[in-house]
Amino acid sequence: MMRSIAEQKVDELGGRLSVLTRQRRDHVKLEDLLEDLAGTTGAAQGQVLLRIYRLVFPHAFAEESVLWPMMRRVLPDGHELTLEVEREHQEVNELVTALEALEADDPAREPVLARLVEVLREDVRDEEDVLLPRLQAILSRARLRGLGLAWEVVRRTAPTRAHPVVARRPPGNVVAAVPLSVLDRVRDLVDGAVLRGPERVGPGLRRVSAGLAGLAHRVEHLPVMRRGEDPSTRPTGH
Ligand SMILES: [Fe+2]
Repeated sequence: MMRSIAEQKVDELGGRLSVLTRQRRDHVKLEDLLEDLAGTTGAAQGQVLLRIYRLVFPHAFAEESVLWPMMRRVLPDGHELTLEVEREHQEVNELVTALEALEADDPAREPVLARLVEVLREDVRDEEDVLLPRLQAILSRARLRGLGLAWEVVRRTAPTRAHPVVARRPPGNVVAAVPLSVLDRVRDLVDGAVLRGPERVGPGLRRVSAGLAGLAHRVEHLPVMRRGEDPSTRPTGH
């Protein structure tokens, strides 16, 4: 039985720069945000959600374009292992897209939010207890640090919002990264302003936000961004 990443010291994980340490750091931040989310409503909930999106979407995007392809190259059962977490990521993308379509006071949000929190926690458990220890077992400290750097570089420039239609695998997701990142980061600024002071920004900026969301979803429908997809992570209802 391999030891979970959650139970190891930083030095055992390959040091501060190791991909395993960086992963765990983000997972701990996510758990803090999920605890903040519990009990919030309205604009406060929107702000916590925005922080969760900015953490999890670039994080998962960099996993899908850097880490999982590496796992498929080096592990004989890499395909099945990574497919499981790609399915979880796909569900997260679909749940967040569903949330975006619901008004802040819609009672239908409650079960969607509950499931979102549940899937995010399952995803962390699968990675820390199963996938990452497998990677740790075969890579040297130097490789873990190199992978940490590659993952970090992609993470910093990756899309920050849900994109259920984009492939969860290269090459589609890599092609999608640049235009969607730009659109997402503008949406983050606009939505942040709307949530901070709805009375100050007025309906104009809300329309800008909705327009950017629509544009991002049209961009992700471009066929080239769906290449590489496993059929089981195609969005439901498309
Ligand atoms: Fe992760």
